Amino acid sequence: MVASETCTRSPEETEALAGALARRLRAGDVVAVSGELGAGKTTFVRGACRALGVRERVTSPTFTIGHRYHGDGVDVSHLDLYRFQGVSAAEWGDLEPYFDDAIAFVEWPEAGEGALPPPRFRVRLRHAGGGRAVTIDEC
Ligand SMILES: Nc1ncnc2c1ncn2[C@@H]1O[C@H](COP(=O)(O)OP(=O)(O)OP(=O)(O)O)[C@@H](O)[C@H]1O
Ligand SMILES: [Mg+2]
Repeated sequence: MVASETCTRSPEETEALAGALARRLRAGDVVAVSGELGAGKTTFVRGACRALGVRERVTSPTFTIGHRYHGDGVDVSHLDLYRFQGVSAAEWGDLEPYFDDAIAFVEWPEAGEGALPPPRFRVRLRHAGGGRAVTIDEC
């Protein structure tokens, strides 16, 4: 496993870091994005989406199951499992299409452990000073 930690001092820096990771991704890859409330998970996913050519506004899917966007030659899914306690077979039926032939970013991935496809990268964000510490592990 390869790990790296970076401190970002602004949302723009978090987006740029996500953009650098995004360029290493391909369809079928899953990226688990964890961290406390407001840590910058959606900001990170937004930066990755931009780098992958998504032009739509990338917003938190907290009140929907997820979003699937068209990027530049690849689809990008954004899921938020905040409201989930585990993932049942029926719920997996609803989630599966987001993972099919797309790069999938999952916020609050803990609820999906063992039920979702294993991530290729784990991103962890935490508050650090006025900025954020961002750890990226390749699994
Ligand atoms: N270095 C930074 N990186 C990312 N976000 C930052 C940073 N500094 C400040 N922020 C701000 O922190 C907030 C992070 O919100 P964001 O929605 O990305 O977090 P989240 O982890 O997805 O939250 P939630 O748990 O509610 O889904 C934004 O308002 C953003 O502008
Ligand atoms: Mg969020």
